[in-house]
Amino acid sequence: EKDGYPSFMEKEIHDQPEAVAATLLGRSDIDGKLTLDEMRIDADVLKTVNKIIVLACGTSAYAGQVAKYAIEHWCRIPTEVELSHEFRYRDPIVDEKTLIVSLSQSGETMDTLMAVRYAREQGAKTVAICNTNGSTIPRESDAVLYTHAGPEIAVASTKAFLAQITAAYLLGLYLAQLRGNLFQGQIKDILADLAKVPAKIAQVLDNDQQIKDLARSMSDARSVLFLGRHVGFPVAMEGALKLKELAYIHAEGFAAGELKHGPIALIEEGQPVFVVVPSPRGRDSLHAKVVSNIQEVRARGAKTIVIAEEGDESVRAHAEHVFYIPETTTLLAPLLATVPLQIFACELATAKGYDVDQPRNLAKSVTVE
Ligand code: F6R
Repeated sequence: EKDGYPSFMEKEIHDQPEAVAATLLGRSDIDGKLTLDEMRIDADVLKTVNKIIVLACGTSAYAGQVAKYAIEHWCRIPTEVELSHEFRYRDPIVDEKTLIVSLSQSGETMDTLMAVRYAREQGAKTVAICNTNGSTIPRESDAVLYTHAGPEIAVASTKAFLAQITAAYLLGLYLAQLRGNLFQGQIKDILADLAKVPAKIAQVLDNDQQIKDLARSMSDARSVLFLGRHVGFPVAMEGALKLKELAYIHAEGFAAGELKHGPIALIEEGQPVFVVVPSPRGRDSLHAKVVSNIQEVRARGAKTIVIAEEGDESVRAHAEHVFYIPETTTLLAPLLATVPLQIFACELATAKGYDVDQPRNLAKSVTVE
């Protein structure tokens, strides 16, 4: 059942091309028209939605943060992402025009279930993005969009994360289609780019030796920092979470722009810092800004480890190590950039002799609040 891999975690990291492909399958036609079968909320209601709140915990919340960038960009609907357990206790503003999108791999996370129930009581419509058929959260929601990642056995989430981003993107495109925010041709182009992602993930997986070697060489690291901007920010936080969970190493993800507002004080000689660099072809000056963030930490002694797009030579001069991922659009890059970070954490934990499938103190589904 591990398909010859030494752990479920490694198997599931390798399942990712299939997880994304299966989540895309059968949800659009040749013209890029999306049909989401289990979206049992009236089109008229979806057209009047004036706010989206994404509710989730842990890795699923990072998927939500990635999706926020895409949904706001495509649909122009203000979108918040909130940890489920924080949401309920702050008197949130929720009404009939609020669309709640919950993200849960298990569909049983009590914090998220309670938050969804609460929002529903306030009159909001709820969509569950979930990996487990017939689980509680989708049963208690108005609509469901299943991720088809297949069963995730390892406690730490990998393939469910990529499938959640994929499904949340489909939801965003569906809303944009319904509300007329994007032309059908634009949706078709984005879906075509998405369809190319599985093969690109497979390419990252085929070239994993360099990141594994690095992981093995860093098994005595005491603290690792991760920086990213825009969609690279939640990717950085996910990279840090994987390292905490699997390798029990102190790790933190920061928005690169936040560095000079505090975290740069942490940088000292030899501090390993991963930097998720956006495509140089992307919009604005995002790329240049992140490159200058790399220079800032390096000037203070950081050991910089960079994830960048293939062909981006500008980062080489500033990095101890560069890992290249295939070209894609800015919004789709998290589906690729996350993968080396997962491999890094898994390999480092394995090198330390830890059980990557069952990290200490953690449970696969958190059914208590
Ligand atoms: C991290 C991890 C957890 C879960 C979180 C939510 O690797 O697995 O952070 O993402 O407990 O779980 P679900 O998605 O089942 O609601």
